[in-house]
Amino acid sequence: MLVSPTLAINEEIARRRAQGLPVVPLGFGEASLPVHPSLVEALATHAAQASYGEVAGAAPLREAAAGYWSRRGVPTRAEEVVAGPGSKPLLYAVFEALGGPVLLPKPSWVSYAAQNAILGQRSVGVPTVPGEGGVPDPELLDRAARELREGRTPPTAVLVTVPDNPTGTVATPATVRELCRVAEEHDLVVISDEIYLDLVHDPDREVITPSQVAPGRTITTTGLSKNLALGGWRIGVARIPGGGVLDPVRRRVTSVASELWSAPAHPVQLAAAWAFTEPEPLVSHIARSSRLHGRVARATAAVLRSAGALVAEPGGGFYVYPDLEPLRGRLAPRDVAGSPALARLLLEEHGIATLPGVAFGDDEDRLTLRVATPMLYGTTDARRWAALDADEPEGLPWIREGLDTVAGALGAL
Ligand SMILES: Cc1ncc(COP(=O)(O)O)c(C=O)c1O
Repeated sequence: MLVSPTLAINEEIARRRAQGLPVVPLGFGEASLPVHPSLVEALATHAAQASYGEVAGAAPLREAAAGYWSRRGVPTRAEEVVAGPGSKPLLYAVFEALGGPVLLPKPSWVSYAAQNAILGQRSVGVPTVPGEGGVPDPELLDRAARELREGRTPPTAVLVTVPDNPTGTVATPATVRELCRVAEEHDLVVISDEIYLDLVHDPDREVITPSQVAPGRTITTTGLSKNLALGGWRIGVARIPGGGVLDPVRRRVTSVASELWSAPAHPVQLAAAWAFTEPEPLVSHIARSSRLHGRVARATAAVLRSAGALVAEPGGGFYVYPDLEPLRGRLAPRDVAGSPALARLLLEEHGIATLPGVAFGDDEDRLTLRVATPMLYGTTDARRWAALDADEPEGLPWIREGLDTVAGALGAL
């Protein structure tokens, strides 16, 4: 088994930089923003808390996460929350507890299918409605669930990502409602990965998630890696609703937690507890971050579009997912007939690091790429604060330089 493609590209970027090679880092999905000073202070305050604490998470964190969800129209009790070292291991434990097969959006985040493969479980990709990544097309979901049933391997769950990684798009409320209806018809648990939910670019946009529509059958995961750029703190939470069929799933996830990670780092949990209460300095920091991600993602989409790619307008998070199908004729003489060769060509000839669509479960012959935009903000905190402060961050010289390199490379294809 190879290292997860998203982490592998990060190491490749570092390797190229160390060799003094030029690199435009669009591969790794890290938020790349400074830690808010109040969080640094909160973590320092709790640094002496060195006991393991409760497996399911420290009481203040579970209470704060319950409040966070309840404020979003998803009534939650602290007992329904399980904390973990990131939402990634929590998702793994949830997949393990539910068993397969699991229905995934196609394309979708690299680790869902990989985690199921490690578990020896089947996952099946279901295409999304165009422009609405992260949520399987409800009609196709219905068909896939029927087929699996007929083959005597009924699916256990369907996963959704709102907003989406890799496409950066946000499914409409109508699609989310219809997906929940189909899930109910087939008695599927919905796993709702909402790690980008606080990063919807337009604060006035109406976004709903399965957690709001079907709170009794939905397991929700989130964390602070994206909204507060705390990926390296490794903290995430899952909401596994109580009082019904999911009680054994929560017990099983807690049991896996006890055998794999014992509990997340205690000081991090206590600082995260404060963050989940959504104090004002953090709420405005997230709003600024979201605005920055939106502006730079849209500027990147515009550059890719003017070079001839098809790109859905990003609506949340910090990704765009260009399809270079209109350039196929120009790429054929270079032996580029699918996403792996395309990503390789951009990296080797132009120093542009992206990930091929195939890493996200897309068909290998498609010319799709996952482009992550935050590493354009720069490698120093000074540049990142400047990006957060700028009215037009896409015009800052170091961000413009990255975008110009992309425009030049695609133009030269
Ligand atoms: C869609 C999605 N879900 C989950 C994660 C995992 O985040 P973490 O384990 O840091 O909470 C990521 C990170 O890249 C992601 O993109």
